[in-house]
Amino acid sequence: MKIAVIGSNNVDLISYIHRMPELGETIEAPDFRLGCGGKGANQAVAAARLGSEVLMVTRVGNDIFAENTIENFRANGIDDKYILRTEATSGVAPIFVDEKSNNSIIIVKGANTLLSREDLENAREDIAQCQLIVLQLEISLETVYAAVELGEELGIPVLLNPAPATPELSLERMKGVEFIVPNETELSLLSGMPVESLDDISNAAHVLLNVGIKNVIVTLGARGVLWISQEGERLIEASKVDAKDTTGAGDAFIGCFSHRWVKNGDIAEAIRVANVYAGDSVTRLGTQTSYATAAEFEERTGERV
Ligand code: RIB
Ligand code: NA
Repeated sequence: MKIAVIGSNNVDLISYIHRMPELGETIEAPDFRLGCGGKGANQAVAAARLGSEVLMVTRVGNDIFAENTIENFRANGIDDKYILRTEATSGVAPIFVDEKSNNSIIIVKGANTLLSREDLENAREDIAQCQLIVLQLEISLETVYAAVELGEELGIPVLLNPAPATPELSLERMKGVEFIVPNETELSLLSGMPVESLDDISNAAHVLLNVGIKNVIVTLGARGVLWISQEGERLIEASKVDAKDTTGAGDAFIGCFSHRWVKNGDIAEAIRVANVYAGDSVTRLGTQTSYATAAEFEERTGERV
């Protein structure tokens, strides 16, 4: 089982705050965590911790963050052949998490924007060995398009997590994508439709199905996931957890879903387990620091992946 993640890495600088500062105001935050993050890296690390072989194609900068990021990929057993050094700053993400576990994130993409079509071409032979290509939108859209095309050429299914959402993404160029995994906000932005009710969400998802995307998997946070395909739709509920930090929960979901789907091809079961995995991650602080290994996951939840 091999998964190619073509995407971003960031260093997450997470401040735990009582409230956001006003303009010009200085406030004190009670806690802070520095950790490896970035949607691509998070999804790669979650899948790798659960036992998938992961090939990461990404660009790091030339600063003090880069070594640490490369070391983190290695420590998680991720193939580092295509973790490319770049004359730029590494991606960073100052993140603010309040007492209700709401988060606000600023991303500075830095080196991530320089990941190119040519980089993917150079990795083509190794990507060809994978059973799934996983993408997000923290790299340039041209590179996302190149990755979708590469998946088509190689006959490898593509999963796109359209985050952070941008109206500039061409849906037309997403046709043929096997899985798109947006949250409600992202779905609304991509479809141009409201997402107030489950019916709205279903209608909005059909805009994506109509361009040729095969499965729309909408993450609804604590409410679970709505999976819509041409065959019908299914709400897969999540169990209640005591949320401390939801940062990176969507990435935990995608990493686990990818691992599980590549393993046995059962979409509903992969969604169910990924809900549990993401739910487990929100009970702990941080992004990757909150992702369980397969053994920890089984110990805490009884789930075997
Ligand atoms: O999805 C969470 C991630 O978004 C964080 O790790 C941060 O780096 C941003 O990319
Ligand atoms: Na977390």
